[in-house]
Amino acid sequence: MERISRLKELIFRKNIDAAVISDPYNIRYLCGFSGGEGYLYISDKRVCMLVDPRYTLWAKDECKDVQVMTVQGNYHDVIGEFLKEDNAVTAALEGNHLTYNEFRAFKENLPVRDMISVSREFDSLRAVKDEYEISMIAKAEAIGDEAFDHILGVIKTGMTEKEVAMELEMYMRSHGAEALSFPVIAASGPNSASPHAVPSDRKLEYGDFLTMDFGCVYNGYCSDMTRTVVIGKAGTNQRKVYETVLLAQDTALEKLKAGMTGAEADMTAREVISRAGYGDNFGHGLGHSVGLYIHESPRLSRLEDTVLKEGMTVTVEPGIYIDGMFGVRIEDVAVIKEDGIRNLTHSDKRLIEL
Ligand code: GLY
Ligand code: MN
Ligand code: MN
Repeated sequence: MERISRLKELIFRKNIDAAVISDPYNIRYLCGFSGGEGYLYISDKRVCMLVDPRYTLWAKDECKDVQVMTVQGNYHDVIGEFLKEDNAVTAALEGNHLTYNEFRAFKENLPVRDMISVSREFDSLRAVKDEYEISMIAKAEAIGDEAFDHILGVIKTGMTEKEVAMELEMYMRSHGAEALSFPVIAASGPNSASPHAVPSDRKLEYGDFLTMDFGCVYNGYCSDMTRTVVIGKAGTNQRKVYETVLLAQDTALEKLKAGMTGAEADMTAREVISRAGYGDNFGHGLGHSVGLYIHESPRLSRLEDTVLKEGMTVTVEPGIYIDGMFGVRIEDVAVIKEDGIRNLTHSDKRLIEL
């Protein structure tokens, strides 16, 4: 209920009378329901998880502190009744999540004067992780570390990217993961120049870089890590690029701390990569927050003015991508502290030649 109290404080400060939460991750965060469908209604007078009959038992099992109501007809009829009984004038919705059609149905049917979107504010509720959340992310990341250790003993020339991805997935799922945080990326040779390549039937060849980006879910919380290894021996250029990415990551991990903005954090690694002449080859941001969802706010990017706080848990994932040749990315998950970070990823980062 402490999380719901924080949300209430946030909406009442903005003179909002009620909130209708639709984002499944926010619903899970606020009341524990992990079914992924339904609406959580929150006002001064009531907190109610509205679900259809498929989810009634599930929701009752998970939402111990919150009333659960089964809705057989239209959600907006029930929500409309609540708003009327609560004398609500202004309702908050999540504009980043509601579809246009859902919004239109609410607009036409809900008896309030104003509806405002507060997605950004709601997302910010989840930004600082508590000790329990951090321990779940750490556990998920530890499964990733183990999976990396395992895959190093499996990789050989002739294996396809799809086989590498499948092996990582199998390992994580059979060692405690309930799901993947996102489909495994395994990109070799020239394919590694695409940051989010889809694993293909390409076979690993001697001299390839192989980038593996993977993560899993443990008790709802996501992990995320990337390692790039060489099949065989690295060439001079490969080594130079790898060492630049590693130095950029080490520099960022050394400098990150509470009080910096996301943009300042991004710049710590970007400076290193630019100084080495690869500024144009690092197209994405330095990182993103992780939690119940794989990509949360705040980001570590040139556009992020949010100030980092102790407990925010972010990826640090610089990369250099050279079209037609190869790419390198190294990614850890770090918890922001007052005076630095705590790294949750423990796999070796020295250049591994297999
Ligand atoms: N592949 C997802 C990420 O690293 O952000
Ligand atoms: Mn990743
Ligand atoms: Mn990531």
